[in-house]
Amino acid sequence: MVDHENDKIPPAEKDPKVSTVSDFPDEIPNELPHHTKLIEKHAILEKSPTLLLVASLLVVTIGGIVEIAPLFWLENTIEEVDGVRPYSPLELTGRDIYVREGCYVCHSQMIRPMRDEVERYGHYSLAAESMYDHPFQWGSKRTGPDLARVGGRYSDTWHVDHLMDPQSVVPESIMPKYAFLADTPINANGVEDLLATHRFVGVPYTDEQLENAGSDFIVQANVEADTDGLLERYPGAVVSNFDGQAALTEMDALIAYLQILGTMVDFSTFTPDASR
Ligand code: HEC
Repeated sequence: MVDHENDKIPPAEKDPKVSTVSDFPDEIPNELPHHTKLIEKHAILEKSPTLLLVASLLVVTIGGIVEIAPLFWLENTIEEVDGVRPYSPLELTGRDIYVREGCYVCHSQMIRPMRDEVERYGHYSLAAESMYDHPFQWGSKRTGPDLARVGGRYSDTWHVDHLMDPQSVVPESIMPKYAFLADTPINANGVEDLLATHRFVGVPYTDEQLENAGSDFIVQANVEADTDGLLERYPGAVVSNFDGQAALTEMDALIAYLQILGTMVDFSTFTPDASR
């Protein structure tokens, strides 16, 4: 018989050069090196579901408090910006129509601070610009363009044409028609309550604004009326016969709202707070 070299090799467990599991009775093979004591302690957590649950809740709570608590001091988070004011009665009514019709399903109202957005839509949105919005309309769905700064971009007539039949001005548009708005009359009934409701949730409407809600509502769509009071109470409000008809309609209110969007802050004089 040939004496094979291989036959002389002892089995692994008898070879002094090869260590086996039995040499380290306290360790499981493939476990982390035994000097990572902290990690080993972690195993206690991992092996007890209850303890793991309690510990994760604790960690999430701490994280949550750190993120959420500062928001309770709203003065800290919303920068005061000149020009932002509560909506006029007609604008606020238009805003309700905007919400009712689900315009937010296709349109966002928040310009993000990224170059492409700012080049397309204008200055990025400031928190203060939506501080009187209940509910806010930021949104994330953009089937149509962002509307945060659509105010003043088009004429009232363009808006009427566009809302009546979007394809008449933008042939490839997939926006639905809202012609019925021009046939739906509105009146000042309940508008004071609408303002009062917004005051209830924190919009600082004054008693004077509430008392004049009804007349301000009508005056904003009447170019012949005396608008001094309205403009004093709501600086920058657009006064116009928005839909071109004698009667006050939902179309008037909605366009009054669209025309004020993003126009309250004068960005030629605005400098962001350095700490933000
Ligand atoms: C099904 C999605 C959809 C809905 C719902 C919708 N829109 Fe649009 N909207 C679009 C699209 C798409 C465009 C871009 C083409 C165009 O201008 O029509 C657009 C454009 C616009 C524009 C012009 C914006 C710009 O910068 O050119 C305005 C203003 C507008 N929509 C207002 C509204 C209002 C107000 C409502 C609710 C009454 C509404 N939209 C509902 C899809 C929609």
